Amino acid sequence: MNNFWQKLKKPFFVQAPMDEVTDVVFRQILAEVGQPDVFFTEFTNTDSLNSKGLEKTIHRLKFTEKQRPIVAQIWGNKPENYLKTAKLLKKLGFDGIDINMGCPDRIIVKKGCCSGLINNPSLAKEIILATKEGANGLAVSVKTRLGYNNLQTEEWISFLLKNNIEALTIHGRIALEMSKYPANWEEIAKAVKIKNGMKSKTIIIGNGDVKTIRQAHEKHKKYGVDGIMIGRGIFTNLWVFDEKINPKEILFKEKLKLLLKHIDLFNNTWENSKNFESLKKFYKIYISDIENAQNIRTELMKIKSIDQTKEFILNLLKNLP
Ligand SMILES: Cc1cc2nc3c(=O)[nH]c(=O)nc-3n(C[C@H](O)[C@H](O)[C@H](O)COP(=O)(O)O)c2cc1C
Repeated sequence: MNNFWQKLKKPFFVQAPMDEVTDVVFRQILAEVGQPDVFFTEFTNTDSLNSKGLEKTIHRLKFTEKQRPIVAQIWGNKPENYLKTAKLLKKLGFDGIDINMGCPDRIIVKKGCCSGLINNPSLAKEIILATKEGANGLAVSVKTRLGYNNLQTEEWISFLLKNNIEALTIHGRIALEMSKYPANWEEIAKAVKIKNGMKSKTIIIGNGDVKTIRQAHEKHKKYGVDGIMIGRGIFTNLWVFDEKINPKEILFKEKLKLLLKHIDLFNNTWENSKNFESLKKFYKIYISDIENAQNIRTELMKIKSIDQTKEFILNLLKNLP
């Protein structure tokens, strides 16, 4: 068993999987500015990977050697496709496989996938077993929530722990809450107690509303989690995983150069296969904390090509001291 989770120094800090955000390009930027201890891919559908949809899906599993350890997150509702996918992920050289049992999207849940599995423990168990079989020694983990309609911490978390997964990420909300209410860290602490009571070796990662490494250290101390996962905090501070960096001290010039790098990486990696518009959600990360940030972003949002976007940014750079 190659269980990298057990080798991480505690507390450790994990980049949250974010669909249409944490692709190979954005993770490369993160790897350069403030490396998390663990990277996650976006969630990737096991049915698509095992059908004609493969070609359109496989890009979600791209990674570079700088992005290690890297965990592939997968979802679906057919154990046989988890088994086949796990074999593929092992071949592709991933460090771990994570099963999404937390996404609350209604269409996905209707099919019994992701947080829908909280209501179907017997299928959840089959999926874990199939993934482990295909993973053949790769670490298998689960990311989930505290329940579906209501808090089910006691029964759901102890059920998952009984299935001998290597790591468990707990997003401190129930599925029906989406992300509308504050994360319930007291309940995450309860999950840690359940784990300790069971003498389980599963690594526990807490997730929800953490914006800085300082807050992450506090959560580790107060709630006993082994690691902390950060998602949206990356949008407010791209450098979040490097405690020594104060993003307010980074010159606008440097942020713009980094944005240019992001755009070039996007262009070189995807050529024309990804919609240019999908880049625009990242502008706010680089263009903020300056007086006319809003105006600059509004202008950038109007531009319809990579070349013109680069030209606009280069012009901005020319006019900066
Ligand atoms: C844009 C976006 C996409 C997300 N995609 C995924 C995903 O693919 N898989 C997953 O497990 N969670 C996904 N999440 C949930 C995050 O991983 C994380 O659990 C959630 O944002 C709470 O953490 P935070 O408060 O640090 O952001 C997504 C969240 C956002 C905002």
